[in-house]
Amino acid sequence: MPEPRLWIPGPTHVRAEILAACARPMIGHRGTKMKELISSIDGRLKMLFGTEQHVLVLTASGSAAWEAAIRCGVLERWCVATNGAFSERWAHTGHDCGKQTIRVEHEWGDGLHPKALADFIHVNKSVEGLAFVQNETSTGAFSDVGSIAHAVKKAAPESLIFVDCVSSLGGAPFEFDNWGVDIAVASSQKCLALPPGLAVVAMSDRYLERARSIPYRGYYLDLVRAHEDWQKHQTPATPAVGLFHALDEQLKAIQHEGLVSRHQRHQEMSDIVNEWANSRGFNNFVQEKHRSPTTACRRGEGLDTATFVKHLKFLGHEISDGYGKLKGQTFRIGHMGDHTLGQLKALLACSDSVLKEMGR
Ligand SMILES: Cc1ncc(COP(=O)(O)O)c(C=O)c1O
Repeated sequence: MPEPRLWIPGPTHVRAEILAACARPMIGHRGTKMKELISSIDGRLKMLFGTEQHVLVLTASGSAAWEAAIRCGVLERWCVATNGAFSERWAHTGHDCGKQTIRVEHEWGDGLHPKALADFIHVNKSVEGLAFVQNETSTGAFSDVGSIAHAVKKAAPESLIFVDCVSSLGGAPFEFDNWGVDIAVASSQKCLALPPGLAVVAMSDRYLERARSIPYRGYYLDLVRAHEDWQKHQTPATPAVGLFHALDEQLKAIQHEGLVSRHQRHQEMSDIVNEWANSRGFNNFVQEKHRSPTTACRRGEGLDTATFVKHLKFLGHEISDGYGKLKGQTFRIGHMGDHTLGQLKALLACSDSVLKEMGR
């Protein structure tokens, strides 16, 4: 039986051309070809993040980039706005790195409130930065990075802005420079539709300056060292060369599709799922204004979500049950990456036949 098409919110479906790029003949990671590859990735990644400042790639998953962002950007104290499983885990990572981590808690499913965050930062000026997740993959809550960054910087101009765009970069607009973000991290296996194993990072001059002043940043995840090497189109350790080839190939494809068109396609996928789910009585877990362009999280409303997911998989489409404490209550569709509207409609038609079988 062929593998089902992946509609889980990462890893998502990877096109055959990208898998082929991973399998290209190996090249030496200190040679000219690797330098050319990194140079090509650099320019295109800057376009994707919307920055003229600094980007780099880590051979690691997004969680490692979280950790790097903390270890290199926080000396003692930071705060994390939590509204779901991943933001809570990022906060936990801060604690595990020995940093005093203050949570600004929001309900699961809530989008983040810029004013509440700005007010918090205003009275807690000793925090070195605020971290939050643009697209909470556990709930499908999408937050307005630009408004949050703007409000927080107004309240505390020294504060660094840390953003997780792990499940949104490449599927939703990101304006690193315009929004005044200081560090943003994303994983390869989400909207970039690559295999897992790479994290992409954007950093501001301000972030790097702060990082240089922070001792004991480690080796593998030291973003200052990684940045110095990246400027020479090198990496501190042996990178996942095959994945770098795939990233370059995919960034070229994204450029060819056009960022605006790519974001538009994601929004259309979200609209189609929204209409389908509403008409079947599966309410959104989040308010309409926080609806994600990349991840649907719908209340099961009496549906046995595990059986629904299992039967769909048997028919060739893999979606997800709810995440963490939402398991059994919600199901999630990751409409991210390279899926077409036609493929999405096929998934929804298949879902309807499973629901009919299940007596809905
Ligand atoms: C929003 C978000 N942040 C971070 C992570 C962790 O990323 P990774 O699994 O690449 O370490 C995930 C994974 O699903 C995620 O959805």
